[in-house]
Amino acid sequence: MSDHRPANTAYWNELATIHKDAAFYDVASFRMGKSTLHDLELEELGDIRGKSLLHLQCHIGVDTLSLARLGARVTGVDFSDKAVSVATELSRELSIDGRFIQADVLELPRLLDEQFDIVYTSYGVLCWLPDLMKWGQVIGKLLKRGGRFVIVEDHPLAYVLDDDCQPDNLKIGFPYFDEAMLTITAKGTYATDIPFEQPMEIHEWTHPLQDIFAGLLGAGLRIDSFREYRKCAWKRFPWMVSDDNGWWHLPPNMLSVPLLFSLTATKE
Ligand SMILES: C[S@@+](CC[C@H](N)C(=O)[O-])C[C@H]1O[C@@H](n2cnc3c(N)ncnc32)[C@H](O)[C@@H]1O
Repeated sequence: MSDHRPANTAYWNELATIHKDAAFYDVASFRMGKSTLHDLELEELGDIRGKSLLHLQCHIGVDTLSLARLGARVTGVDFSDKAVSVATELSRELSIDGRFIQADVLELPRLLDEQFDIVYTSYGVLCWLPDLMKWGQVIGKLLKRGGRFVIVEDHPLAYVLDDDCQPDNLKIGFPYFDEAMLTITAKGTYATDIPFEQPMEIHEWTHPLQDIFAGLLGAGLRIDSFREYRKCAWKRFPWMVSDDNGWWHLPPNMLSVPLLFSLTATKE
């Protein structure tokens, strides 16, 4: 398999540089004390006060540090050095305790010799990972016995919808079961409408639900809950409608499809 990392790291470094000033991430309000978390993940996480929490693919760290503000002892991991440096700088500037590590998620156990009460990951993470069996093993190794895993993520069905779908014509544009790497030309970021000066090549994978379950079950985790939602955290299609809480929905009267899922599991 070709090494996808140089291209994907370059892409996420570019996005981290844009996102620290993008309205979508609203770092100015975060600096003033506003949480970047939704009720949905807070409910799935439960009481995190005093717990050690590992946040996988933490991006620029605003969610990680929002979790720290709620009392968790947080460690964020991301393979983008730019994202990790924005997160580390925010932690220092705002005096919020947090540790950030630059690493590929799938190689983390080689670098991190400890276990956590909670492992958390969210919103746009799985499509960047080639191997969910290995991902499950990483989570299994880094969780304490009795520790909880929580994920809130774009639904695989939403991922395979064609980018040019119209409200009256939802179409499949990407394979659901194909494990091959998809190489895509990215013209910009989900966080702004401003295109890149130069498009960037990136590599992604579709992961069917069964692979997500298999990765976690294969690592000895017990699945405690699984829910699907008709909303998502970003504007997947230009014609989606937002609500007062910042969620994006398909317009009313359309066929309903899942756009997001949450899953919680325990290491027995
Ligand atoms: C869509 S963002 C996650 C979003 C995050 N929940 C947020 O809203 O800020 C995906 C993140 O995954 C990271 N990433 C992608 N592949 C990775 C890998 N193999 N190991 C570690 N981080 C990775 C990227 O650098 C990026 O910061």
